[in-house]
Amino acid sequence: MELNERILHYLEKSDKVDTLKLASEFGEDHQKVVGAVKSLEALDMVISEAAKSTKWELTEEGKLVADKGSHEAVLYKSVPESGIPQAELMKTSPNAKVGFSKAMSSGWILIDKSGGAPIVKRKVAAITDVVQDHLNEVKKGLDTLPDNVRNDYKKRKLLQEITIKSFLLSKGPQFATSIKKLETDLTSEMLLTGSWKTLDFKPYNFDALGQPPECGHLHPLLKVRSEFREIFLEMGFTEMPTNKYVESSFWNFDALYQPQQHPARDAHDTFFVSSPATCTQFPMVYLEKVKKVHSEGGYGSQGYRYDWKIEEAQKNLLRTHTTAVSARMLYHLAQQKEFTPQKYFSIDKVFRNETLDATHLAEFHQVEGVIAARGLGLADLIAVLDAFFQRLGFNRLQFKPAYNPYTEPSMEIFAFHEGLGKWIEIGNSGVFRPEMLLPMGLPEDVNVIAWGLSLERPTMIKYGLNNIRDLVGPRVDLQMVHTNPICRLNK
Ligand code: PHE
Repeated sequence: MELNERILHYLEKSDKVDTLKLASEFGEDHQKVVGAVKSLEALDMVISEAAKSTKWELTEEGKLVADKGSHEAVLYKSVPESGIPQAELMKTSPNAKVGFSKAMSSGWILIDKSGGAPIVKRKVAAITDVVQDHLNEVKKGLDTLPDNVRNDYKKRKLLQEITIKSFLLSKGPQFATSIKKLETDLTSEMLLTGSWKTLDFKPYNFDALGQPPECGHLHPLLKVRSEFREIFLEMGFTEMPTNKYVESSFWNFDALYQPQQHPARDAHDTFFVSSPATCTQFPMVYLEKVKKVHSEGGYGSQGYRYDWKIEEAQKNLLRTHTTAVSARMLYHLAQQKEFTPQKYFSIDKVFRNETLDATHLAEFHQVEGVIAARGLGLADLIAVLDAFFQRLGFNRLQFKPAYNPYTEPSMEIFAFHEGLGKWIEIGNSGVFRPEMLLPMGLPEDVNVIAWGLSLERPTMIKYGLNNIRDLVGPRVDLQMVHTNPICRLNK
């Protein structure tokens, strides 16, 4: 007879029965019985109620003791008739220390120090290993131990109490002792013969969970990146091509009016590339203008007044900011016959020779927005930043004067984070200097406003991570990547 039918026969004779009792009567695994009950329940043949009971069980160590004897008995047996140096005895088993103190307190062994080094000898001729006997009783399910003994074994970590979940069964509305096979498929034959009218069909189980689909999972950084991209696109920005990690110092620094002796251009701050170490292709007319504005000034500026060297500009590096890409784009924009206003954005990797810690890595992502149009000023920048960060869910912004070689004025952006309950720095911004824009050939009345922020910081805040190593690198928990929710920045 099948297990489910055996259950039905049992229930016919008794009103209520616990699945644990059934499992032991049938000599079947409890889980199997529960499985059979669930299928009977789906047919309304039985009703089940969750029940709980507790049971004492041997721990792993308890099983060892039941098998091989208690630690004290094992130790006692290692003591030969003639005695054994204590130090040697302690090496006979991993549990010798516990065994020794128990055997001493039970009066099974003694220490003889008369000859100098302590010698352990048997104090009694024979012992009974009560602990082993007790544990074997528990193992057989004959638990008659007094509470204090059981608690002692629990303290010694030989026994543990476990809770077992079971079900109390009773007859259901469709109770019968045999199971009618229900149809699961409607066949063309049933339709042709009309037999479907009298057949019983298995009901759908609307509680069954579907198979989780096999699919890839986006890393939190990619989720936040696509949110940012969405925001820029909705605001009418065009994405800049950021697929060049290696840049020349010229585009990363010189074009941005960053002097050649600026500390950021040091190998301590920037990763220089050794092969190829230099770049030789530049728009030479423009390069000459950059050289001139650095060394002599122009466009109303006195310049930095130093000896600008092309060798310094030729050095290849891993770009330290995506503003290098913005510089290239603005130069190209300046080559148009007729200037047209533009809104650009980029979200990509940059590299800095940083000391690594909980919030800094040597590479991270920058989010950057750039707007070029006639007559733009600081008020436009503030308005755009307000609109942009509003979409990220930040309603209150504050600005602090800052310095960048390529922007004037420059502002650090702070936002009030409702969740953290404090003002946090979220970005940097400014109006690009004429010393940067005019050598490119942009018309004099064209201004460019821009801002930048990191992708990692909002991602860490959004996903509640406080160590960047949990977000990037070998320590990333793949389960976190699988299960973390989609990102809605403004929610
Ligand atoms: N490039 C700046 C940085 O690396 C960010 C920035 C972009 C500042 C555009 C002003 C304008 O932090």
